Amino acid sequence: MNRTIFAGIGHYLPERIVKNQYFEKFMDTSDEWIQERTGIKERRWVDEGETVSGLALKATELALQRAQMKPQDIDFIIFASMESDVVFPGGGCFLQHKLGIPGVPSMDIRNQCSGFVYGLTVADQFIRTGMYKTILLVGAEIQSTGLDLTTRGRDMAVLFGDGAGAAILTASDNPNRGVIVSKLHADGTYAKKLWGEWPSITHHPRITPEMLKTDRIFPKMEGRYVFKHAVTRFPEVIREALDAANLTIDEVDLVVPHQANLRITEAVAQRLGITMDKVYSNIHKYGNTTAATIPICLSEAVEEGRIKEGSLLALASFGSGFTWASSLVRW
Ligand SMILES: CC(C)(COP(=O)(O)OP(=O)(O)OC[C@H]1O[C@@H](n2cnc3c(N)ncnc32)[C@H](O)[C@@H]1OP(=O)(O)O)[C@@H](O)C(=O)NCCC(=O)NCCS
Repeated sequence: MNRTIFAGIGHYLPERIVKNQYFEKFMDTSDEWIQERTGIKERRWVDEGETVSGLALKATELALQRAQMKPQDIDFIIFASMESDVVFPGGGCFLQHKLGIPGVPSMDIRNQCSGFVYGLTVADQFIRTGMYKTILLVGAEIQSTGLDLTTRGRDMAVLFGDGAGAAILTASDNPNRGVIVSKLHADGTYAKKLWGEWPSITHHPRITPEMLKTDRIFPKMEGRYVFKHAVTRFPEVIREALDAANLTIDEVDLVVPHQANLRITEAVAQRLGITMDKVYSNIHKYGNTTAATIPICLSEAVEEGRIKEGSLLALASFGSGFTWASSLVRW
């Protein structure tokens, strides 16, 4: 059976840098609070006119260049995002059009912060069975346009950033490389602990002028509750994958977790019994970029020489749903 290897990885972040001090103008917060409680110093936000598929295109172009491939080499697109450029169709179709490859199948995956690992798992199944040879997997998000920039929304507004990462996944007959095992989970019991309620598809009509005046149009989170689940689920799902592959945490070269809060990442490292130098972190620059986070981390870690051919990686995510997932990858 084929193995799924990363032939190329790329990322793109909007040019506009939003530092913590920016929020002090609109809400009761401070650079000190944000850094101390989250580890975030700044994030990238889009300017008017930038689109989710546009960010995805730039990340894809870099990934293709690094894979030494052309758009025509792509057999299938998996687009992991909470959003599209519009309500529908999904962003994968817009990206496919921008890449100029009509007819190539495109599927959106909507699993919030776990979107990339879920997408990788789906891609791995198609490649292992031989249905597709080369798959473009993208994580791309614009969160900044939907945040409450008042004190009421300060717990969410300071956390999120925009960006995109893209992986060119391809079939290899080398049994020593590629995706080794993935573990996926979800528990809808907790759907309302981190969610965006309105505009509601079941509300008649979906949005009214009255609704726009309430805070229910903004994403909501019970921060401490989510935090507690995250610090349990991350190590649990990494260990589950390691056990399935008969590997130990000591054999892992780099843990690449979803970046939600530096304190979550530090707690995960501690619970896994590893030091922070074995855990990738770039949250200080970008905040939480939802499904784009893990491919952005991978792309930067490759550029920095922290991932090399043969490195054993543990990718792990946790997010709204709740959903959580892990993949072990031999680069
Ligand atoms: C959101 C989060 C950073 C808040 O940090 P925290 O240390 O848990 O803070 P708390 O929620 O306990 O709030 C402490 C106080 O800080 C306040 N606060 C929240 N955001 C603030 C901000 N940006 N600036 C200043 N104060 C803020 C709260 O209102 C609260 O005030 P109160 O005590 O008067 O009620 C943290 O809970 C978190 O990271 N949660 C999980 C994030 C996550 O995993 N997200 C999604 C997964 S994808």
